[in-house]
Amino acid sequence: MSTGGLGRGVGVIGAGYVGLTLSVFLASKGVKTICVERDGDKVRKIMDGVSPIHEQGLPELLQHVVRDGVLEARDEIGDMLERVDIVFITVGTPTGTDGVPDLSQVEEASRQIGEAMPTRRGATPLIVVKSTVPPGTTWHVVRPLIEEASGRTCGEEFHLCVNPEFLREGSALQDTMNPDRIVIGAKHGEAAERLKKFYEALYHPSKIPTLVTTPTNAELIKLATNAFLALKISFINLISQVCEATEDGDVGVVAEGLGLDPRIGPLFLRAGLGFGGSCLPKDLRSLRWFAARLGVDTLLFEAIIGINRAQRLRIVEKAESMLGGLSGKRVAVLGLAFKPGTDDVRESASIDIIRELLARGAEVRVHDPAALENARRVLGEGVTYCSELYECLDSADLAIIATEWPEYTDPDPSTIKSLMRKPLIIDGRRVLNTRRLLEAGIRIHTVGLYSPLA
Ligand SMILES: NC(=O)c1ccc[n+]([C@@H]2O[C@H](COP(=O)([O-])OP(=O)(O)OC[C@H]3O[C@@H](n4cnc5c(N)ncnc54)[C@H](O)[C@@H]3O)[C@@H](O)[C@H]2O)c1
Repeated sequence: MSTGGLGRGVGVIGAGYVGLTLSVFLASKGVKTICVERDGDKVRKIMDGVSPIHEQGLPELLQHVVRDGVLEARDEIGDMLERVDIVFITVGTPTGTDGVPDLSQVEEASRQIGEAMPTRRGATPLIVVKSTVPPGTTWHVVRPLIEEASGRTCGEEFHLCVNPEFLREGSALQDTMNPDRIVIGAKHGEAAERLKKFYEALYHPSKIPTLVTTPTNAELIKLATNAFLALKISFINLISQVCEATEDGDVGVVAEGLGLDPRIGPLFLRAGLGFGGSCLPKDLRSLRWFAARLGVDTLLFEAIIGINRAQRLRIVEKAESMLGGLSGKRVAVLGLAFKPGTDDVRESASIDIIRELLARGAEVRVHDPAALENARRVLGEGVTYCSELYECLDSADLAIIATEWPEYTDPDPSTIKSLMRKPLIIDGRRVLNTRRLLEAGIRIHTVGLYSPLA
């Protein structure tokens, strides 16, 4: 395969959802890719052709590129810098509940790159920060760390860009193959131009809208995007609370009407249990923290976070009132991943809901088609893990649908009635085909829909 314009090879530091997807995609385009991952288990899995994460289409492609020797994973940077022209930093950037960013992974990766740089010969390396970082990080944290560790100067002996990632878990590979935009932030025109050319060659013949700007703007575009998406979700969830309090409101219809306005659009107007995952909550907190440090009023950010938290708690309160108390009641929670199509449980609504159910004395059974293993690491042994949906519903007093997996949309009414102690369901994601269930006498509370249930 011709890799015209794509250079000798690419290094990727961090084989998480972003780094591994990027690595597999690049390798599938024939670009020799070396992925450095500090977690030895992940490295072994990748080299065995097994994907350590659940993402549609990834396992097949991964197996293919590893077998062909185009993708290589390792747990140390070693001579990686020697063999590539571009290095992407795709390590994690978690934040605490106060939003203070933990940049330790980015700092470590920057130092490692810097330390490996002096032995490198040949063309100027281009370092690209793909991790989501607070404004100023690329220039004021990454650059000095690389310069210190390498003794080399940015703009002369190495190039540096920030290039935020917008993929969505659940469709990570598709999004990486067809990005809706490319944002490049750089202080030096040559650095930005190199990355732009690389992407033009990678996505040729498609032309992806590309914005070249300062590092601060690029970093802010990523945080503002996620804060805005979170705003849309919290907004529709607030409207869903209004709908529930009316005599015939339905947030689905209200959202449909809202979305027909081209100034608003239909996406991210799905009421439910709020946003979770590894990006929206933490990026919103990070932006709030950053804005507060600059003396900017963060009232709107507080409100988005507050509505999201309340939406989870409301479900537990609804369950409590439907059952007349939770102590000793068996609750089946369907869905642990923060969204369907992924095994990621980071900041998942169902994890908070389960903890609150347990705190109020409920006995909790859980099911998820992909995330049981990850959930066990977070929740421990306090809940019963069920690999079968109907096993989870066994003798339950109530079921809560917490993730919109397709397998939850059309359960068999007679099986539910025979299995559950009480046929009560809270549809937290508005996925149920309710007609058959209601006809069979199953009682359902749907988020954002007026319901006479207690
Ligand atoms: N997950 C998403 O949907 C998504 C989307 C867009 C942007 N982002 C951003 O991209 C970044 C990565 O996200 P993710 O979800 O892939 O994270 P992740 O936590 O799944 O993966 C990060 C990986 O980096 C590895 N790592 C950390 N330091 C390392 C080092 N020095 N050397 C080698 N490996 C190292 C970790 O072991 C881990 O496997 C974050 O900043 C995130 O905010 C994520």
